[in-house]
Amino acid sequence: MSVLDLCCGKGGDLPYKWRQAKIAHYVGADLSKESIKSAKEKHEDMTHKISINLDKRRNDRFAEKAFPAIFIVQDAGDDNEQNLIDNILKKEKSLQSITSKIMFDIVSTQFAIHYMFESQTKLRAFLRNVTDRLEEDGVFIGTTVDADRVVCKIREAGSAKNLTVGNDYYSIVFGQDTFKKRDSAFGIKYYFYLLESVGKTAFTDGRPIYVPEYLVPFEALIEMALEYGLVLDKKMNFHEYYEKMSQTENTKKLY
Ligand SMILES: C[S@@+](CC[C@H](N)C(=O)[O-])C[C@H]1O[C@@H](n2cnc3c(N)ncnc32)[C@H](O)[C@@H]1O
Repeated sequence: MSVLDLCCGKGGDLPYKWRQAKIAHYVGADLSKESIKSAKEKHEDMTHKISINLDKRRNDRFAEKAFPAIFIVQDAGDDNEQNLIDNILKKEKSLQSITSKIMFDIVSTQFAIHYMFESQTKLRAFLRNVTDRLEEDGVFIGTTVDADRVVCKIREAGSAKNLTVGNDYYSIVFGQDTFKKRDSAFGIKYYFYLLESVGKTAFTDGRPIYVPEYLVPFEALIEMALEYGLVLDKKMNFHEYYEKMSQTENTKKLY
């Protein structure tokens, strides 16, 4: 399998998810230079550890091999023709000898679709990036915030809590009551804080840094994704997913 990881961050999925899945090729893209640098280092470290392992078990034909990876700093929600991931890949030196169109079996976007809901233009550019090089029977796997749960939690907290929910590790703050009937599914902004969040210092002047994110009205995502040829296969809340997967031996071991 070949994987295009859009918004790959620091490459947290490299050593576990993708290695476990025994993929053949990987391309990771992220807006943050810092995160791409960390992801590259993680891949090098992983490759190094695996080669040490291979040396030790030279005769072990089941010894795992690292997969080749390419990392690019790129906005996955840019609609400028020049900056589409598709076009950026064409410029990659290591890919230039490949004459046929480079396609992926899987496009993965973990914990980042909410950034694309800033505007319809951004989501469209993102979906184009997802589908431009996805094989005919390829799969897109994404995870994002469950908007229904967030709205439900905010409502439960009541206005006395200033439209804020969270605990010691995270908080979500809405600037205003944005849940009234709206014309658009886009730009429903809230501020999110996660302890030790990716690429961010947790505190400045003793105060946590909040990053803007956008609610993902799921129906709007599915509707637009369909325009790009993506048909919904499965949708599950993490809690349900955990309940289900923690019951089976194989996935329990992975967890
Ligand atoms: C919460 S992190 C998730 C990282 C990684 N997918 C993971 O699961 O560990 C979100 C990532 O999305 C990246 N990101 C946000 N907007 C982006 C965009 N428009 N294009 C590319 N990356 C973006 C951020 O830089 C950050 O690394």
